[in-house]
Amino acid sequence: MKRFKHIFHKKCSVIAMVHLDALPGSPLFAGSVENIVSNACKETETYLNNGIDGILVENMHDVPYVQSQHLGPEVTATMCRVCAELRKIIPREKPFGIQVLAGGNREALSVAKACSMNFIRAEGFVFSHIADEGFTDANAGIILRYRRNIQADDVLVFTDIKKKHSSHSITSDWKLPRQLIFFLSDGVILTGATTGDPANATELKLLKDSVQLPVLIGSGVTLANLKDYIHADALIVGSYFKKEGKWNQQLDEKRISDFMKKIDRYDLK
Ligand SMILES: *[C@@H]1O[C@H](CO)[C@@H](O)[C@H](O)[C@H]1NC(C)=O
Repeated sequence: MKRFKHIFHKKCSVIAMVHLDALPGSPLFAGSVENIVSNACKETETYLNNGIDGILVENMHDVPYVQSQHLGPEVTATMCRVCAELRKIIPREKPFGIQVLAGGNREALSVAKACSMNFIRAEGFVFSHIADEGFTDANAGIILRYRRNIQADDVLVFTDIKKKHSSHSITSDWKLPRQLIFFLSDGVILTGATTGDPANATELKLLKDSVQLPVLIGSGVTLANLKDYIHADALIVGSYFKKEGKWNQQLDEKRISDFMKKIDRYDLK
């Protein structure tokens, strides 16, 4: 919690998603890296102008995703280029993170190190699950050794439990949060079943009461259900900030400002 509070200054911080346009090498790449960079900068500026607390960059349009062993260096290189540009406009006191799909946890750590970023969202971590891109194995031991090797210890690693778009029946007899603490996670992310799907508010309460880790909500927070998640340590919001609440649409500035005004009215400080 101390490491978390060093970076996240509010009681409940709002982390906005910057979903990068498809990158070189992926089927939907439209041909211009410059456009990817300028769109990411524009979205980030819109978020910052509306009082967002933090930014998380993700290669969300790189469908269909591949597992990390199939990620080409062009993905890391392009994301590093984008994040280096965003670093110039995101104030140092705002948490700034990256997720590389799918399961590109070392790639994310290396970009975070190169661009002085604060956190990554890691897939896998403990146990294993079957995701839509295939079998995702545990990797906590590997990525935390990698973090130490590249001297990126100040980059926090947030880890999904029961990650969305994945099957977990084989680990359903395990209390996963305890393993996350044992394996040195810096924060646990709770999601619904898919992108835009709300997390279970009862599970948030159970998690907050049972683990000493920061708990982040990773999907499905809206203006209407915000009150159910206000006791999380951070909310990662993507879909709600887009037109009609659809993740693949343009940002809707009014939705962002309404959301931020509402959360500011909760006296959580
Ligand atoms: C939410 O979680 C609680 C506690 O694990 C469970 O009892 C309940 O069925 C869940 N609700 C839904 C809608 O899945």
